[in-house]
Amino acid sequence: MAEKKPTPRQQLVRMITGYWTSQAIHVAAKLKLADLVKDGPKSAEQLAQSTKTQPQALYRLLRALASVEIFSEDEQGRFAMTPMAECLIDQHGSMWAVAMMMGDEHFRSWGELLYSVQTGKPAFDHVFGKPVFDWLSEHPAEAKIFDAAMTGFHGPETQAMIDAYDYTGINTLVDVGGGNGTVLTAVLKKNTAMKGILYDLPGVVERAKKNLADAGLASRCQTIAGSFFEAAPPGGDAYQMRHIIHDWTDEQCHTILGHIRKVIPPHGKLLVIEMVIRPRNEFQPAKWLDLNMLVLPGGRERTEAEYAAMYAKAGFKLERIVPTPTEVSVIEGRPV
Ligand SMILES: C[S@@+](CC[C@H](N)C(=O)[O-])C[C@H]1O[C@@H](n2cnc3c(N)ncnc32)[C@H](O)[C@@H]1O
Repeated sequence: MAEKKPTPRQQLVRMITGYWTSQAIHVAAKLKLADLVKDGPKSAEQLAQSTKTQPQALYRLLRALASVEIFSEDEQGRFAMTPMAECLIDQHGSMWAVAMMMGDEHFRSWGELLYSVQTGKPAFDHVFGKPVFDWLSEHPAEAKIFDAAMTGFHGPETQAMIDAYDYTGINTLVDVGGGNGTVLTAVLKKNTAMKGILYDLPGVVERAKKNLADAGLASRCQTIAGSFFEAAPPGGDAYQMRHIIHDWTDEQCHTILGHIRKVIPPHGKLLVIEMVIRPRNEFQPAKWLDLNMLVLPGGRERTEAEYAAMYAKAGFKLERIVPTPTEVSVIEGRPV
């Protein structure tokens, strides 16, 4: 029998209480419940002992999660893994760090969404007293989770991006705001003659350097510490930025693109990898990520026309937009 479509009221109730689920997932991640269950079903009592929690309350958390297919309760009252619970194991590329990050700093900032809507300013700064990337540079544990969350959240985009976009002809690729280096690693592994430069803030570059060396790329990839608001490193014939431009206001993006414009050679390519907002009512994750950008760093997702105007103002021409099977596209520009 076909499932009955929820009524508007039921749909709304599900959405209004959406944070109950996201906080329950966050607590499951924080207690590393998936890691504790992955080798075999466990009772709430056993899990409570390992996590120093109250057994009855932990049982209620697990029962609620099992009702949405995150863990499943067997006849002996033990909880076992499900495909969604598997995604919460703390490992490279999983959703563990995403659940950790979203349920903490993000959740607290979203609690002040009204402030952002009233002022147009990031609620994060209002709650934490400083901009998100400044705060992260002073909080290494959270910064490590942020890096891992970027890989978990945007990870599938990397393969899709390198399959869809042809990097042939690029000798040196500068990954501006390259984060932990996973994107550059994937591009350099596919394009074996290419050299790379990863440019990011000092603390981030230290973490990236180790990852690039572990991937066997130390001889082909340089890391440079600095701020894209101060300068862009010369030496590239393509400048890539994935999920950088959406973090910032139009004025800040103009500064970043301006620094790249100063060092990019005439034949160079500008590669911005972002979601491109489509008009009107169609559902698109980008429309929600856009709100996240408002609340956290104070940036925005943009339409094709907005990218074209931003490029033109900074001395670039938007050449083409190459879609990928994921939400992101490669927005290619060239200096004019
Ligand atoms: C959303 S992450 C994207 C990371 C990476 N490009 C990816 O796609 O996974 C934004 C990155 O911008 C970096 N960043 C923020 N402010 C910066 C600045 N002023 N100069 C250079 N990098 C900066 C952060 O450290 C972080 O690695």
